[in-house]
Amino acid sequence: MSHEKAIDHFEYYQKLGNWDFDRFGIHTRSLTDWDLYEILKSLSTPDSRILDLGTGGGEKLLANYPDCKEILGTDYSPEMIKTARENLRRSGRKNITFKVMDNHKMDVPEDYFDIVVARHTTTDPVQIRKCLKPGGHLLIRGVDKYDCWGLKFLFGGGQGFNDPVPVSIADYENVLKAGFKDVVLVPIHEQEFFKDPGSFREFLQTVPILEGVDLKEDHLQRYISENTFGGKIRLIRSYYGLTARK
Ligand SMILES: C[S@@+](CC[C@H](N)C(=O)[O-])C[C@H]1O[C@@H](n2cnc3c(N)ncnc32)[C@H](O)[C@@H]1O
Repeated sequence: MSHEKAIDHFEYYQKLGNWDFDRFGIHTRSLTDWDLYEILKSLSTPDSRILDLGTGGGEKLLANYPDCKEILGTDYSPEMIKTARENLRRSGRKNITFKVMDNHKMDVPEDYFDIVVARHTTTDPVQIRKCLKPGGHLLIRGVDKYDCWGLKFLFGGGQGFNDPVPVSIADYENVLKAGFKDVVLVPIHEQEFFKDPGSFREFLQTVPILEGVDLKEDHLQRYISENTFGGKIRLIRSYYGLTARK
């Protein structure tokens, strides 16, 4: 995700204030086996220090990150960090803190973290490399250009629709340029099924997949009628996973 876009999205994230989609009753079927949390668990030890960039309301971190010496979750939206602190209090988990920080103006110690995770957010690999210990790991999972392409194609726009280079490739090149080694980029394919047309519509109004696009009713109805299976609405997702070492 480019820096320019991240600034455009600030108000959107502030207003949303959390990144919790349980209410849409989404059932996900993975067609590939790259699993961020499995990789994170396999790399971490009780002594690890983990930084989670663009943590949102900390929902994923609190549910999936292993217990270890220190976990810091950061986000540039004060509203997200407020939610994350409330979620942390409710979770009762220890050794976790949250703070407001822009991923493009990182304010963390150098040579400090064992693992940096960036899930569905924007990154600056040069700044990330500085805060990692030598040998430390970077794990990125991102939403790729061709995510929900059938839907975007029907509407003629949406997130990344006109990107000249897919975001996965831009990230891959930037991570290599920043001097990381063992850089591996993996495509991730998933199918999401929404419990009914109402929750699918509400989801599209909540997330930026069709940002900047007029949600034309006839297009929406056509997509729903062509993608309903057993009463559930299918969305074809395209993500990418990237691992690298300092
Ligand atoms: C799509 S949500 C992902 C949240 C969480 N990582 C997850 O996977 O559920 C993207 C998050 O990145 C944050 N974000 C976007 N641009 C950022 C930036 N430049 N610096 C820090 N956080 C940013 C947003 O505020 C939002 O909480």
